[in-house]
Amino acid sequence: MTTLIDMSIADLLARKVWLAPMAGGVTTVDLAVAVGGAGGMPTLAAGYLPADAVAADLVAFRERHPGPVGVNVFTPQPRTVSAEQLRRYSELLAPVAERLGSRLGEPVHDDDDYEAKIDALVQEAPALVTFTFGLPTAHDVSRLHGAGVTVGVTVTCVEEGRRALEIGADVLIAQAASAGGHRSTHDPLRKPGSETVADLLYGLLPLDAPVVVAGGIVDAAGVEAALRGGAAAVSCGTAFLLADEAGTSGVHRQALQDARFSSTVVTRAFTGRPARALTNAWTRLGVDAPTGYPDVHWLTRDLRRAAAHHCNPEWVHLWAGERWQDIRAAPAAEIVTALLSDGR
Ligand SMILES: Cc1cc2nc3c(=O)[nH]c(=O)nc-3n(C[C@H](O)[C@H](O)[C@H](O)COP(=O)(O)O)c2cc1C
Repeated sequence: MTTLIDMSIADLLARKVWLAPMAGGVTTVDLAVAVGGAGGMPTLAAGYLPADAVAADLVAFRERHPGPVGVNVFTPQPRTVSAEQLRRYSELLAPVAERLGSRLGEPVHDDDDYEAKIDALVQEAPALVTFTFGLPTAHDVSRLHGAGVTVGVTVTCVEEGRRALEIGADVLIAQAASAGGHRSTHDPLRKPGSETVADLLYGLLPLDAPVVVAGGIVDAAGVEAALRGGAAAVSCGTAFLLADEAGTSGVHRQALQDARFSSTVVTRAFTGRPARALTNAWTRLGVDAPTGYPDVHWLTRDLRRAAAHHCNPEWVHLWAGERWQDIRAAPAAEIVTALLSDGR
């Protein structure tokens, strides 16, 4: 029997280019509307936002676009960092904070308003809810299903994919090592793997669920290759960092186009969780940063904001995927059209 969720999944997967969620201000409602309007599948980013702001973004999206939209949620994280490790990392960063006229923050271990977000999403029922950094409970999945919501989980290896399907996920978002921003590795203490999109497709397709792939896809050839390899759709983040409608900060935009930044690195330096960023003074200083998300995120947030305010790219988290040198500034609709030009 074909269920409502099956119909919704088919509708979502008919859109071959998904806007990857990008928390911290990059994904705006404007960007999501533009991508949806161009035939892409937008996902709003709920990370770092309180539940009422997430609900407000959904309302704002729906006022402007009738198509489907997803929302991405960070799952709560186990505490993995000691007070002593945080103290040592603070000592390393304190002189930088002083130089920038900023302060280090309180390293709080919060749950990013998780339960309230699940309640709001059950209430608002977007077409899709995806989870990153771990698994929701089977109970959360069944509440979302009850509201007619398709559930996706971002996975970085086959084992994570298998577990996601066990708790009822409908779609796997397979994130390869080349991806920009945080790796979604479910165990924060596990070193993130080096899987490519092809490796992930090879391992995950036999699990018999739709696989949407992410990581290093910035052009039509990348979309084409992923679809030919069996991906149900592709999810692109970095390709949209310079979109006119993206909320990417000025300092981040400039650095992405500045030849002085010539490599990316996976680093825990900014938030305590591995994430791919342009190599800068902070990624070099913080090579031994502790594993401790979100504690380290709170410790460093004000310092990063101060540096962005002063347009100092050396002390900002410049998230970028490995293919950042191949992206361009343009309206988001043009970027979607270019990605789809061979991949439809
Ligand atoms: C600026 C930025 C912010 C991101 N924030 C999130 C997020 O909030 N949730 C998430 O699941 N992934 C996040 N990611 C990862 C993307 O969803 C996606 O996996 C990645 O961008 C795909 O690789 P690409 O950047 O090479 O396209 C972020 C990526 C970037 C570049």
